[in-house]
Amino acid sequence: MQSIAENDLGTPARRSDQQVTLQIDGCEVTVPAGTSVMRAAALADAKIPKLCATDQLEPFGSCRLCLVQIEGMKGFPASCTTPVAQGMKVTTQNAELAKLRRGVMELYISDHPLDCLTCPANGHCELQDMAGAVGLREVRYGYAGANHLDAPKDESNPYFTFDASKCIVCSRCVRACDEQQGTLALTISGRGFDSKVSASQEESFLDSECVSCGACVQACPTATLSEKSLIEQGQPDHSVVTTCAYCGVGCSFRAEMRGEEVIRMVPNKDGHANHGHSCVKGRFAIGYATHPDRITRPMIRASIADPWREVSWEEAIGHAASELRRIQAKYGRDSIGGITSSRCSNEETYLVQKLVRAGFGNNNVDTCARVCHSPTGYGLKATLGESAGTQTFDSVMDADVVLLIGANPTDAHPVFASQMKRRLRQGARLIVADPRRIDLVRTPHIEAAQHLQLRPGTNVALINSLAHVVVREGLVKEDFVRERCEVDSFEKWRAFVADERNSPEAMAAITGVAAEQVRAAARLYATARNSAIYYGLGVTEHSQGSTMVMGIANLAMATGNVGRSGVGVNPLRGQNNVQGSCDMGSFPHEFPGYRHVSETAVREQFEKRWQVSLLGEPGLRIPNMFEAALDGEFKGLYIQGEDIAQSDPNTQHVTAALTAMECIIVQDLFLNESAKFAHVFLPGSSFLEKDGTFTNAERRISPVRKVMRPKSGYADWEITQLLANALGLQMNYTHPREIMDEIAALTPTFTGVSYARLDELGSIQWPCNAEHPEGTPFMHVGSFVRGKGRFMVTEYVPTAEKVNARYPLILTTGRILSQYNVGAQTRRTGNVAWHDEDRLEIHPHDADERGIREGDWVGVQSRAGETVLRARVTSRVQPGVVYTTFHFPESGANVITTENSDWATNCPEYKVTAVQVTRVSQPSAWQKRYQEFSRRQESLLGAAGHAGAPKAEAPRG
Ligand code: SF4
Ligand code: SF4
Ligand code: SF4
Ligand code: FES
Repeated sequence: MQSIAENDLGTPARRSDQQVTLQIDGCEVTVPAGTSVMRAAALADAKIPKLCATDQLEPFGSCRLCLVQIEGMKGFPASCTTPVAQGMKVTTQNAELAKLRRGVMELYISDHPLDCLTCPANGHCELQDMAGAVGLREVRYGYAGANHLDAPKDESNPYFTFDASKCIVCSRCVRACDEQQGTLALTISGRGFDSKVSASQEESFLDSECVSCGACVQACPTATLSEKSLIEQGQPDHSVVTTCAYCGVGCSFRAEMRGEEVIRMVPNKDGHANHGHSCVKGRFAIGYATHPDRITRPMIRASIADPWREVSWEEAIGHAASELRRIQAKYGRDSIGGITSSRCSNEETYLVQKLVRAGFGNNNVDTCARVCHSPTGYGLKATLGESAGTQTFDSVMDADVVLLIGANPTDAHPVFASQMKRRLRQGARLIVADPRRIDLVRTPHIEAAQHLQLRPGTNVALINSLAHVVVREGLVKEDFVRERCEVDSFEKWRAFVADERNSPEAMAAITGVAAEQVRAAARLYATARNSAIYYGLGVTEHSQGSTMVMGIANLAMATGNVGRSGVGVNPLRGQNNVQGSCDMGSFPHEFPGYRHVSETAVREQFEKRWQVSLLGEPGLRIPNMFEAALDGEFKGLYIQGEDIAQSDPNTQHVTAALTAMECIIVQDLFLNESAKFAHVFLPGSSFLEKDGTFTNAERRISPVRKVMRPKSGYADWEITQLLANALGLQMNYTHPREIMDEIAALTPTFTGVSYARLDELGSIQWPCNAEHPEGTPFMHVGSFVRGKGRFMVTEYVPTAEKVNARYPLILTTGRILSQYNVGAQTRRTGNVAWHDEDRLEIHPHDADERGIREGDWVGVQSRAGETVLRARVTSRVQPGVVYTTFHFPESGANVITTENSDWATNCPEYKVTAVQVTRVSQPSAWQKRYQEFSRRQESLLGAAGHAGAPKAEAPRG
C-alpha cells in the first residue's frame, strides 16, 4: 500500500548516455533512453492511471489501465511497457481512453469487496484512487456471479495479513519478492479466474520460504497485504525520515506516525543504502521500543545483592559521579573507564569518549567493535591507509566476481544481500569461503561457482594459497602494483606467497579445501574485469583476524581490484553504528578520526578545544579492564548501550570481573545481563527518541531523527552530558548538531559534515571535506590514502585452540536473520516466531556417532565452560564442526567461547572453540546458576516497583 509521503513514477529510472525528447499531451519532456512512456509522463506531471506498475519494479503490463495513444502507432499501447522514442507524441487523456479505463476498472471492482469505509487502506488505496481517477460511477456486472469475495485470510505472519478477497492478481507482490528481495517465495498459481497468489507450495506465509521482508506488502496496491499495525492502529498522519538502528546496512526509513505513535516503518525509496527495501527487523521489529520491560526511571543500589531503588535523575547522576570520584581517589586515576556503544549515535559515542579522556582523565575507553571489527581497522590501515571499507553498496552492481569470505549476508546484512543476489542473477559469479553452507551457496537462480568449505581457523592458509596461485600463474596486475604500491613490500610478499608451503596443494591438509577448487577460485577472482571481496566476522573473530584482513587487502591490490566501482575490500559491519563508534575515537589508543593519542599535535588540538590536558598513553582495552578488575585495580565502569556480560567471550570470566568492581553504571533500555551486575541504572533512549547520526558499513553517515519524546525524559547524549557536568567537565550542548559541529572541527575526514549538509544530501560518505564536499563513494581512487599500498607478509599461524580426543569438534558461531546480536531488542518482538531459541547445528555423521537426534538436548563442553542447547542435525555444517547463534542469554554461547584473541587487537576468537558434544537431560551447572541469579536480580528490580520487570528466561533441558 502507498506510503503517505512518496510519489510513484510508475517504472524504475533508466541510466543511459542518450537522451530522448518527446511530447506528452503537447508538452515536451526529455528523459534517458529506455525510460517508459509512463515515467516520462509522470515527470511531465501527466498522471496516467496504473495498477500493476510501480517505480520499484520492472513493468509487467498486465492490468491494461495505463493505455495511451501514440501518434503513428496502432491501438492503445500500455504506457508502462512502452519505451519512449525521439519525437514521439503521446496522448494520455481523451474520451476513448477514459472509456477503456473505466471498463477495466469496472471488471476489477465487480470482484472486489465494497467495504472501503472500514478497510484499513481507506484513503491510501491505489484501487480506490484509480476508481476515482477514471471516473468510475457504476458497476454493471453485479456481484451475483462467481467471485473471490469469500477467499480466506492468512494471518499467520506476525506482522502482516493476506486477505485474498481483496487481491486483484496484479502480481506486484510476486515481482517484489523476486526482484527486490530475491527470495522468490510467491507465485501466481492457477489460471484465469482461478489465478491466485500462493506462498511457496500453497503454504501459509509463516510456513513458507517468506523471510518477512515486507516488500510485497509495500508493493501491494490494495489492502490484500497489509501491516497488522495499520489494521489495528489506523492510518498515519505524518512521516519522519530516519535510519534503522539494527544492522550495518543502515537502511533509511520513513517512520509513519500518528502523534508520537509509530504506525509503521516504510523503507525510503530515496535511501542511498537501501533504495526502498528493508528486512524484517528494520521494517517490523520495533515493538521493543515501547515494550513494558523498558526501564524508564533511574535506579541505584549499594551492592548487587540489594534491591534497586528508584531515584530522581539528580540523585542518580550525583551518586554515579561521587562514586566514580571516590574510586579514583582511593584506587587512582586509572581505576575507572567507559564503554561506548555501536548501537548509539556518533554524537553519543563521541561524548562518552570525551567524558573518559577529558573527565576521567585517562584513555580507558573501548567499544563493542573490539569484539567484532577491530582487526578490520588494524589490517586495512596497515595496507591501504584507512580503517574502513572501500566502496558503496551499489558498487556490487558493477562486480563481475564476488568473493564472499566469512560473511552470511542473507542473515546478517539482508538488504545488501538482496542487492548482491540481484547482481548474481544478472550473471556475476560467486565464490563463497565459509565453513558452513550458507544460503548463498545455492539459492533460487544462484549457485556459487566455488564453495571453499574451509575448516574454522584456517582463513590465512586459504588466502595465502589463493595468492600463491595468482603469483605463480602470472595473474598479478603488474602495472597496478608498480604504479600504486610499495614495490619492496610487494616483492617481499610475492616471494613469501610463491613459496611452495603456501601452495593450495600444501595448504589443503590444513584448510580441508581441495587444491583444484582453490586454483579455480583464484583464477576466477584474478581474471575478471571487476572482482570485489566482501567479508564479515568470519574473517575478523580469529586469533589471526588482523592477518587475514591484511591478506585480503594484499590479494585485492595484487589483482588491481581497488579504487573504482565494482571492486574493493568491503567489511560487512555488524551493528548499525559499529563504523561510527570506531570513527568517533572509541578505542583507547585513538582520538576521533583514527589518530593516535601519542601524536602531540593531534592531542594539542583536542586539549585546546576541550580545555583540559590529555594523556598521550593508550588506556585499557575491554579485556585489560577485566584483568585489572580481577587484580583489584579497576573498580568503576560506565557502560552506554552495550551488554558485555552476554556478548563478550568466556562469560564466567567477565561476570567475575564485573562482580569485582565497586561501581558499574549501565545506561540501557532494559535490565540486560550486564545491568544485573550494576549499581547505577540510567534509563536510555531508543533510536526513535533522539536526533543524531549513524555511520553504516559504506562509511555513510545518515540522519537519525526523533519521532517521539524520550521515555525516560532524556536522550542518551543528554545523560552523558549530565554525568560529565556532575564530574566537573562542562558540556553545554543544546542539540546533537552542535556535537557534530565539534566532531567536524576536530576530525579531518569530517570537516564538511553538518546537519544542514545531511538534510541537503540525505546522507554522506566520509571523507567529506574541502577536497570531497559531497563525500567519497570510492576510496583509494588514483592513489591509496597512505600514498602507496603496502603488502604485508601473512604467515599462517595455527590457533592455540586445538581439537583433541577430549574436545574433538570445533564450535563456530553466527547470526540469524530474525534476531539481532544479544537479542535484547528482537527477543521482545514478534520475531521470536522464527527463532525462539539458539540451537546447535551438528552434522548427521557427528550426531549419529553420539546418538543425537534432531531436537535432543545436548551438552556443549569446552575448556572454558559448558552449556546445553537443543540439537539441529544438518549437513549445512561439515563433519567435525558445530555451529550456534548467540541471541539468547540462557543459551550461554559465550560460556563456552575462550579468551583467545587476535594477536593485534584482542578481538576474541569467537569462531573457533574446541568442544565435545554429548546427549544430556538437564541444564548445565552454569545455566542453573544463571537462572537462579537472574530470578534474584529480577526480584530486586521488582522491589523498585517496576511493573515491567522482565521475566526470567528459564534455561531449557
Ligand atoms: S515478505 Fe518478502 S520474502 Fe515474504 S513474500 Fe513478501 S516479499 Fe517475499
Ligand atoms: S496481493 Fe496485492 S500485490 Fe499481490 S497480486 Fe494481490 S493485489 Fe497484487
Ligand atoms: S538490512 Fe539492516 S539496516 Fe536494513 S532494515 Fe534490515 S536490519 Fe535495518
Ligand atoms: S500499469 Fe501498465 S499495464 Fe498495468
